[in-house]
Amino acid sequence: MTDASSSPVPPVTIHRSDYRPPEWQVPDIALDFALGLDTTRVGAALSVVRHADAPTPLTLRGDGLTPLAVCVDGESWNDWHMEGADLIVDLGDRTHAVVEVDTAIDPAANTQLMGLYASNGMLCTQCEAEGFRRITFHPDRPDVLSRYKVRMTGDKTAFPILLSNGNCIAKGEGDDGSHWALWEDPWPKPSYLFALVAGDLVVNRDSFTTMSGRKVELGIWVRAGDEGRTGHAMQALKDSMAWDERVYGREYDLDLFNIVAVSDFNMGAMENKGLNIFNTRYILADPDTATDLDYDGVQGVVAHEYFHNWSGNRVTCRDWFQLSLKEGFTVYRDQSFSADMGSAPVKRIEDVRLLRAAQFPEDAGPLAHPIRPDSYQEISNFYTATVYNKGAEIIRMMATLLGPQRFRAGTDLYFDRHDGEAATCEDFVRAMEEGGAIDLTQFRRWYEQAGTPRLTLTLSEDQGQWALDVVQTVPPTPGQPEKLPMMMPLRIAAFDRSGGASLPDTLVTLTGATQRIALGAFGARPALSINRGFSAPVIVDFERAPGELAWLAAHDDDPFARYEALQQLMLDTLVAAAAGNAAHHPAVIDAVTQTLRGRGDDPAFVAEAVLLPSEAFIGDQMLTVDPDAIRRERLALQAAIGRALEDEWRAILAGKAPPATDLSPHAKGERRLRGVALAYLAATGIADIPALVFGVFSDADGMTERQAALATLAHGDSDERAHALDIFYQRYRDNPLVLDKWFQVQAWSMRPDTVEAVHQLAEHPDFTLSNPNRVRSLYGAFTGNQAAFHQADGAGYRLIADLVIALDPRNPQTAARMIPPLGRWKRFDEARAAMMRAELERILAQPGLSRDTTEQASKSLLG
Ligand code: BES
Ligand code: ZN
Repeated sequence: MTDASSSPVPPVTIHRSDYRPPEWQVPDIALDFALGLDTTRVGAALSVVRHADAPTPLTLRGDGLTPLAVCVDGESWNDWHMEGADLIVDLGDRTHAVVEVDTAIDPAANTQLMGLYASNGMLCTQCEAEGFRRITFHPDRPDVLSRYKVRMTGDKTAFPILLSNGNCIAKGEGDDGSHWALWEDPWPKPSYLFALVAGDLVVNRDSFTTMSGRKVELGIWVRAGDEGRTGHAMQALKDSMAWDERVYGREYDLDLFNIVAVSDFNMGAMENKGLNIFNTRYILADPDTATDLDYDGVQGVVAHEYFHNWSGNRVTCRDWFQLSLKEGFTVYRDQSFSADMGSAPVKRIEDVRLLRAAQFPEDAGPLAHPIRPDSYQEISNFYTATVYNKGAEIIRMMATLLGPQRFRAGTDLYFDRHDGEAATCEDFVRAMEEGGAIDLTQFRRWYEQAGTPRLTLTLSEDQGQWALDVVQTVPPTPGQPEKLPMMMPLRIAAFDRSGGASLPDTLVTLTGATQRIALGAFGARPALSINRGFSAPVIVDFERAPGELAWLAAHDDDPFARYEALQQLMLDTLVAAAAGNAAHHPAVIDAVTQTLRGRGDDPAFVAEAVLLPSEAFIGDQMLTVDPDAIRRERLALQAAIGRALEDEWRAILAGKAPPATDLSPHAKGERRLRGVALAYLAATGIADIPALVFGVFSDADGMTERQAALATLAHGDSDERAHALDIFYQRYRDNPLVLDKWFQVQAWSMRPDTVEAVHQLAEHPDFTLSNPNRVRSLYGAFTGNQAAFHQADGAGYRLIADLVIALDPRNPQTAARMIPPLGRWKRFDEARAAMMRAELERILAQPGLSRDTTEQASKSLLG
């Protein structure tokens, strides 16, 4: 069944400059739900207060709703009309009124998973950004904050558990097998933070005592049978609550904090006040079914949504252009938390890898936008790596420029000054300026300009004194042909390779288009450690000899910079090779050997450092991406390193794996390194390797090793491959999250027949378009498989366009998220580019295409 409730609308562009304060506020709302899977009746009573000077009608946004009855101040009311999907109520010259509207919705038919929908027999909501208007008529903008009272009635057997935001203040039973509950949230909140859940759920309960001594009841609600897999999420929640008190001085503010896990969810999770709703994949974890990466995902997302209670809920966004105010800041907060809970350098490496994989390409393509966009057609399309991950980097740069104490003074001022308000990015920067006593005038350009800045460096010497010249350029992006230089913190150091004095870690603030940095006296050209810790989200152009990079990979005292040096060495080699020049394997092999042998006691760091750059990242360095050459050369280097260090890799695997229940950073690091060893050995093509990998698969006592071995086998065509896939399927066919992995490893495969395999997997009885996790596990993994997606005959492009066309009527948000890979056509040869454009055109030619997909496809086509 598809969802026909939101009919296609011609694209309307919303501009940030058009912001006007709301003419009506809604201080109180009472909602009354009569719950049913096919019909839920919603009674809404909004007490409205006019803020405009002159009489003006009340506009209540709707999406697919019909008003069944309208009352004003208790009387039936006729002075209303529809304007498109919206309800306009004429209130004459009233300044106050209680407006009641009744509607009915069909949650089971809601395949978009926005608003109130059914998932596995339970009812749940997703309202951010504009889903509340699919439940009832409402201004549905984040600068309208209300106190909510929510009453819900439903069948006791179908919906034994009834949850909403805040506290449950009353409940009771009807005499018809129904029961009801009344919830009240004392904190005014925007409609996007409203939530309701009704269903047959079990709970893992715990509690947390806040720094002021208040006891908070914690509950994680899941389907019966899943409660044993909620322990890690619960621990993450308690750790997050303690961390936000310790690091930001922020305490939780209700007596109850509930989390519900649902299996059909468009995103990762949602921070509804007091009632977070999560995709099951970010709640459920046990060693048999979740990898170490999954565990880290649970911890990070639980923290992220919890942290929103202050950065998002207590202080919310004035309008959706300010989205990075809550998302960028909250990502920065969850990154810092995860760094504190595990290995900080490894966390930084992972975060930078994600930024380069997801955000840099976005910033370099047709969908580039500033972290605070100027316009949009569909806001759902702007929950992007730019708003989130570049947004987090902008906050991180301010933290670096201010230092920990002044940054904390800035955040204290921000939270205290704007508590209970709908704020702007400008408010945040101003609090940083005042709290941190710094002038951020130029820094504000980071909010205005899209595009990844490029720093071009040259080193020069004059009478033994060395200097570094930095030229900063910001590339043109759609709608922004000219750019100005931006203020940024650049951490550098310079080493005398023969053991003389070095320039220790130094923080330079760049502001100009060109800038000279004095490094001091060195006997010979110093080895330069640049952008240490990735202090600024930029691309650095700086030619360094392989020997210098290898030296830094071994000797730099900043672990991130050591990682970068080795990655740069690999990258230079691979880019040259893919462009047809001879590959310099020996220098890379030496550096990898050194890193591996000098591994000391940090296997996690070593594993990250010796991993080859991804195919996509190699492509990003080329004038024209050649996916086949990149795959060939990367595999060749992998095989060379695999063979040269064969004994080392075998020794790593011959050692005993730590027990899967050991989740210490060290144990995780050991498992990660074992996974890397598997990949290097498999690349060699040595005859006994498939059997060895299969042995790891069979002996694995947990999912990290099991999945690593399965993914390794999936690249080849051994008998062990088929056997392992079959065993895995039989064992986990009833566990949707693990079955997702089965689809995923096959879509990631480097086999030449992967496009065909994905076609067939889409026909598999366990595949369905109605579950976003399943769609992402097959097609999302596939678009990340560069050589397969860009197969020369265009079959990969057709596959994704067919998916978008099939998915758009049912779930436009998830469909639109599959389009950006097709928009990278400018980076490829003319034959591929033409086929990619043709698929975008084919998508756009579909009648009734959603606003989400229309915006992404039409912008992608412009290039
Ligand atoms: N507020 C978002 C959830 C959301 C995203 C709602 C998009 C509507 C549209 C939530 O806080 C969030 O950011 N979730 C992330 C995970 C997070 C750890 C980055 C997500 O769902 O991917
Ligand atoms: Zn968020």
